[in-house]
Amino acid sequence: MRVAVLGLGYVGTVTAACLAANGHDVWGVDVDSTKIAEIRAGRSPVVEPGLAELVGQTVAGGMLHATTDCRAALDGAELSLVCVGTPSTGRGETNLAYVRRATEDIAGALRTAAPPPSGHHSVVIRSTVPPGTVDGVVIPALAAGLAGTEIAVGAAMCPEFLREGSGIADFFAPPFLIVGTPDDTVADTVTGLFRFLGQPVQVVNVRVAEALKYACNAFHATKVSFANEVGRILRILGVDSREVMALFCEDQVLNISPAYLRPGFAFGGSCLPKDLRALLSLARVNSADLPLLAGTLESNELVISEVVDRVVAHGTRAVALLGLSFKTDTDDLRESPNVEVAERLIGKGFDVRIYDPIVNPARLVGSNRRHVESKLPHLGRLLVHEPREALQGAGVAVVSTSDTVARDALLAAPPPHLIDISGRLGSEVESLPGYEGLGW
Ligand SMILES: NC(=O)c1ccc[n+]([C@@H]2O[C@H](COP(=O)([O-])OP(=O)(O)OC[C@H]3O[C@@H](n4cnc5c(N)ncnc54)[C@H](O)[C@@H]3O)[C@@H](O)[C@H]2O)c1
Repeated sequence: MRVAVLGLGYVGTVTAACLAANGHDVWGVDVDSTKIAEIRAGRSPVVEPGLAELVGQTVAGGMLHATTDCRAALDGAELSLVCVGTPSTGRGETNLAYVRRATEDIAGALRTAAPPPSGHHSVVIRSTVPPGTVDGVVIPALAAGLAGTEIAVGAAMCPEFLREGSGIADFFAPPFLIVGTPDDTVADTVTGLFRFLGQPVQVVNVRVAEALKYACNAFHATKVSFANEVGRILRILGVDSREVMALFCEDQVLNISPAYLRPGFAFGGSCLPKDLRALLSLARVNSADLPLLAGTLESNELVISEVVDRVVAHGTRAVALLGLSFKTDTDDLRESPNVEVAERLIGKGFDVRIYDPIVNPARLVGSNRRHVESKLPHLGRLLVHEPREALQGAGVAVVSTSDTVARDALLAAPPPHLIDISGRLGSEVESLPGYEGLGW
């Protein structure tokens, strides 16, 4: 397939050379003529293990070409991959000027370039761009640039996951191949382009594809800072943090796993808040700063206050809380964020009725009982036996249990507003008119 690659930096050069090495007819474009001259001479303009050899071989074999002339590159091209820079502005925003300009260049070139054999050209963004860029920048620039023509184009986001230093190896073994587009022709073209990788291509919503790369990079940065903060406090305590973290990584059930990575409600319970506070206290007395770990408590508080604020915003006084313990199948109420929500709403004068499939105040003992008595002294009066009793007359339901009895009651008598903090109620409940999720 004939492919144009716009931007011959780290991503563009690796992409162009790897595609050319796998049988595609690749035309690299850059505004920097020194990079073009390097590639034409069979040399790589960037340093990356194995890249100089790959560029040399593919240029010599006539599969990789380089030009500053976008039109020449787009002659007969089925697809263009936009790999230009998206640097930060002084205020941390993403500078999309290069993406906009490259898209305008593509549209301008397509007006006079020979059409591709399929009659359709796909513009695929590989640069890292914020959600909304394809819809808000790329598609309007293509529409403006191609106005008055019959040229068929479509756009997509296909995030790149290679790391500098292992770019070629990463290109051939990406963690996943994601294409965000509503356009089946573009999805099929990208799938064909990467077929040689032998990996499935996942076609998703374009904003999901744009956001994914930010989620990945934010997580990687958080992992580094997490390990460094653990190292900072453990070193002071005389503990070998590398040994601790090596063992930590052996846990692939809770630590290195999808556990706890589903957007939803606050953490709580008898251990996480307590042990986090203990670590932060050790840091404080030892004058160590752990801003990431301290920030998790602040972040958690935001989740709780957002739910309370949402209830308040609905302007109704009767509230049903379905679920009270911090997770399903336990009656442990210690530091349950649901108890916190209940306490705050009661404090604001809301008429709160609570249903929990497991919690029975008569059976609560020890620290669990003391915690509830301090937070919700009248729990016995607030608890009802059936979810429909809690829902009767309620303007808002805050649902943290996915218990089937509660779900059936919601479906039988949906409240005007339903704030789902469980994230596990299923599509039937999620399609109720008053349904609100937390970030999904
Ligand atoms: N570097 C990485 O490891 C990496 C990995 C994944 C994703 N990304 C993302 O990929 C994008 C590119 O990163 P990079 O490190 O390769 O950037 P880079 O700065 O190395 O290369 C960008 C190239 O684009 C060229 N360019 C600018 N405007 C152009 C235009 N209109 N037409 C043609 N060429 C043009 C520049 O001259 C430059 O050579 C960024 O959005 C980055 O965030 C980078």
